[in-house]
Amino acid sequence: MTHAAIVGWGKCLPPSVLTNQDLATFLPTDDEWITTRTGMKERRISHVRGIELAIVATRRAIACAGLKGSDIDLVIYGSCSNDETVPNSASGVQQRIGATGAAAFDVNTACTSFMYGLSIGTAMIKTGVVRNAVVIGVELISQYMDWDNRNVAVLFGDGAAAVVLQASTEETGVIAEKLQCYADSRQILRVRGMGTMYANLGVPFGQTRWDFDGQEIFRKAVQGMSEASLDVMRRSGVTMDDIALVVPHQANLRIIDAVAKRAGASADKVFLTVQKYGNMSSATAPVALVEAVEQGRVAPGSLVLMPAFGGGLSLSAHLLRWGDRLVPLEHSDAELPPSPKTALELVNEIRAQKKLGDDAAARFAELRFVENQSG
Ligand SMILES: CC(C)(COP(=O)(O)OP(=O)(O)OC[C@H]1O[C@@H](n2cnc3c(N)ncnc32)[C@H](O)[C@@H]1OP(=O)(O)O)[C@@H](O)C(=O)NCCC(=O)NCCS
Repeated sequence: MTHAAIVGWGKCLPPSVLTNQDLATFLPTDDEWITTRTGMKERRISHVRGIELAIVATRRAIACAGLKGSDIDLVIYGSCSNDETVPNSASGVQQRIGATGAAAFDVNTACTSFMYGLSIGTAMIKTGVVRNAVVIGVELISQYMDWDNRNVAVLFGDGAAAVVLQASTEETGVIAEKLQCYADSRQILRVRGMGTMYANLGVPFGQTRWDFDGQEIFRKAVQGMSEASLDVMRRSGVTMDDIALVVPHQANLRIIDAVAKRAGASADKVFLTVQKYGNMSSATAPVALVEAVEQGRVAPGSLVLMPAFGGGLSLSAHLLRWGDRLVPLEHSDAELPPSPKTALELVNEIRAQKKLGDDAAARFAELRFVENQSG
């Protein structure tokens, strides 16, 4: 039986740090509220396009695997903030890493895009379609954030991470997973403005308004991630005692705590990045996985549980068995260019570009009604 081992891993965090104090310069919020309600202290804001973050992370992951770009025969780009739609982003990564013979496609299940991509890549290796696959989770949230909405603006940041999967006879990589979608609740987490229907409704392309029911998302996230985790453990015949580390999607520290409690994981078993990166949507879980390995929190042959949740409302839980290797075979020299601006300067530039005209604001206000009419 063929398995899909994780043989390479890499991340790319933009250098500019946006603090809670920075957010309080333009939003009615403060460090105390954000810290106690979310666990977040900082997040990163990118000075380059999302694909540049993805390419650096991918080059690092490929070097870590001891491979060359030309060895890769599948690129999966998990994101809901693509720089462009046609051509897709995966083909851009493919071109830049020189994976000339590869297939390449994008996956969008919002915050779970990397996790769904991991399932797809694993399945394509197990069925013999490809041998070496790159799976990327990347987001450039800052460009489409509704920056004047304190309910959401404090929660998110930019980042990227990638893993290389390789066909193996060892039973490592994803050994069980649960994928699901609470589609009946899809309307409680929406980013309005990103799609062709908005142009038809009179909203200028590129203007966004985030429409989140935070408390309901919170409840569904806790339910979804904990039930998916329990389901995967039950089906694979393992208990929390067998699992060395839980590396969850990181949307809110209180969500993570509640999921850990329901799934039976003690706090020392849960790996956290939420305090320094916030929620990077699809980049969150893979960045946390890469950091857990870098920090020696994953032992050779150990089991890692990765529950995740996102728009859709998509949800997932993956049980991974790590392989023997914890150190990269090679190191890439890929780096982002230095950022010429602070995170606050970058955000203020985006805010200035995105000031809504009266017409666009009025159209957004009517959208819920339009949607109800169309079912
Ligand atoms: C958004 C979230 C942090 C809010 O936490 P909460 O404990 O539910 O807080 P509430 O919604 O009860 O808001 C409490 C008050 O704080 C206010 N508030 C909201 N954001 C604030 C901010 N950034 N700073 C200060 N006050 C804020 C609210 O307006 C509300 O005020 P009110 O009582 O006067 O109406 C939490 O619900 C959450 O994390 N939800 C999921 C977020 C999400 O969608 N993540 C993406 C999933 S992938």
